[in-house]
Amino acid sequence: MNVSEALEARRSIRYFEDKQVPEETLRAIVKDAQWAPSWANAQPWKVYIATGDLARKIRESHLQNAQRGLRGRSDIETGHRTDWGRKAYNNMGHWSDDLQGYLGMSVREFPMSQAELFDAPAIAYLTMHQDSPEWSIYDMGAFGQSLMLAAKERGVDSMAAYEIVKYPEAIRKFLPIPQDEAIVMGIALGYADGRKINGFRSDREPLENVLTIANK
Ligand SMILES: Cc1cc2nc3c(=O)[nH]c(=O)nc-3n(C[C@H](O)[C@H](O)[C@H](O)COP(=O)(O)O)c2cc1C
Repeated sequence: MNVSEALEARRSIRYFEDKQVPEETLRAIVKDAQWAPSWANAQPWKVYIATGDLARKIRESHLQNAQRGLRGRSDIETGHRTDWGRKAYNNMGHWSDDLQGYLGMSVREFPMSQAELFDAPAIAYLTMHQDSPEWSIYDMGAFGQSLMLAAKERGVDSMAAYEIVKYPEAIRKFLPIPQDEAIVMGIALGYADGRKINGFRSDREPLENVLTIANK
């Protein structure tokens, strides 16, 4: 699979099979992702991956927090949808309508997948130093996407989600993530199960909306 194929084949998987990703595969995926570019090669990222019994305990704790309606408070602040500007705001609305339309009677699969943390057999937490400058987020994004493409290339599906990092204090109870590291993003890794939601394909804006090439 080349990069273009991996870019197109990757999609968010919201329910995983009960099947572990081999540790050597996880190591290889993160090693590949380390080739991501970063400011002056700062490589601000660290990765903590919970698997097996630990991943199960984290999922159970997440479900309990979600069921009692605990408000999410990620280390990276979440803005309001309107802060993203009209274009992004409209795209978010379109995505949401599209997904709900696709799910139809199975619409509950979405909130359930969130509360159940996608039944993920492996959960990767991407962290960086708490006081990193804003530019580091660019590096973290490049790293995250590289990780998901490397996973896809190795036959492993992925799910990047705020949902995974919305209860950082609970995560720190299970993993040795110091307070001076911000838990920036979570990526679930595993193998897609047959649930309807996994068949959803989000679309993209026409290229003309996104790209300007100028020569004068
Ligand atoms: C920063 C970020 C946070 C996200 N958070 C969630 C989330 O909490 N729950 C979820 O189901 N999807 C989440 N997603 C997945 C997006 O909805 C998804 O990437 C987008 O709709 C495009 O679909 P695709 O990944 O299938 O191409 C997140 C994606 C990113 C990049």
